[in-house]
Amino acid sequence: MASKQPYTYSDTADEAVRATCDDASICKRFATSKGYWTDLYAQYFVRQVGERKAPEINRGYYGRVKGVNLLLDAFLEKTQCDCQVVNLGAGLDTTFWRLKDENIMPKKFFEVDFPTIVARKIHHIKTKPPLSKPLIETHSTDSLLLDGHSLDSDRYCIISADLRDLPTLEDKLKKFQINPELPTLFLSECVLVYMTPEQSSKLVHWVADTFPTAMFINYEQVNMNDRFGHIMIENLQRRQCNLAGVDLCQSLDSQV
Ligand SMILES: C[S@@+](CC[C@H](N)C(=O)[O-])C[C@H]1O[C@@H](n2cnc3c(N)ncnc32)[C@H](O)[C@@H]1O
Repeated sequence: MASKQPYTYSDTADEAVRATCDDASICKRFATSKGYWTDLYAQYFVRQVGERKAPEINRGYYGRVKGVNLLLDAFLEKTQCDCQVVNLGAGLDTTFWRLKDENIMPKKFFEVDFPTIVARKIHHIKTKPPLSKPLIETHSTDSLLLDGHSLDSDRYCIISADLRDLPTLEDKLKKFQINPELPTLFLSECVLVYMTPEQSSKLVHWVADTFPTAMFINYEQVNMNDRFGHIMIENLQRRQCNLAGVDLCQSLDSQV
């Protein structure tokens, strides 16, 4: 019998990784309800504000969202929006709607996540006009694709794929008209830590080999040897969620 790889393609392990999507959106929803930053759309993905989070958590999320947005907005400004953005492991992220409201949308905004997360996100979009209206407003024809597994419009596309399966990822991005000639920003916000260093490395190399003009924003945990890091690892392990890439999160140097 073929032995299973420790971190890949195990349903239980993947399910625990998918559950981190809810952690992120619940914490972001709480922090925005307390005014740490403004997000008009988080409420449509997480209805209840939920239980109180410690200030350290709210501040951490503030820094995370602010840092990523600063770099993303600088890229959009530099390219004058003549570019693409690919959010890897996007979860229930609401950036597309912010960019639309601020009138700084890239040519096309792609998101990738596991099929069950994508299905949930698409369901929210289909059933909530404040989410679907901006999407329809940015679409010119009547050929909008919106099924259980993917969404494709002129400016926004959500793809179901496993980031560890690069041939399928590439096929799907091509199917939805990604243009390798355009400057492209790849974004992974707390995602690569759930993949082995080899899998992350292949993904980053694929980006470098495929897109002549690209930028990669990777927001990841570091200093995992301190008390905060230990508690985070313990909490996730209790939920059977292994951080397959944690060895590279010991310091900024190891992450680089
Ligand atoms: C901690 S959540 C972060 C979500 C979002 N980036 C954010 O910051 O709000 C990690 C996300 O990465 C996704 N993810 C992790 N490994 C993945 C893989 N191999 N393929 C596709 N998505 C993956 C999970 O499903 C989850 O939605």
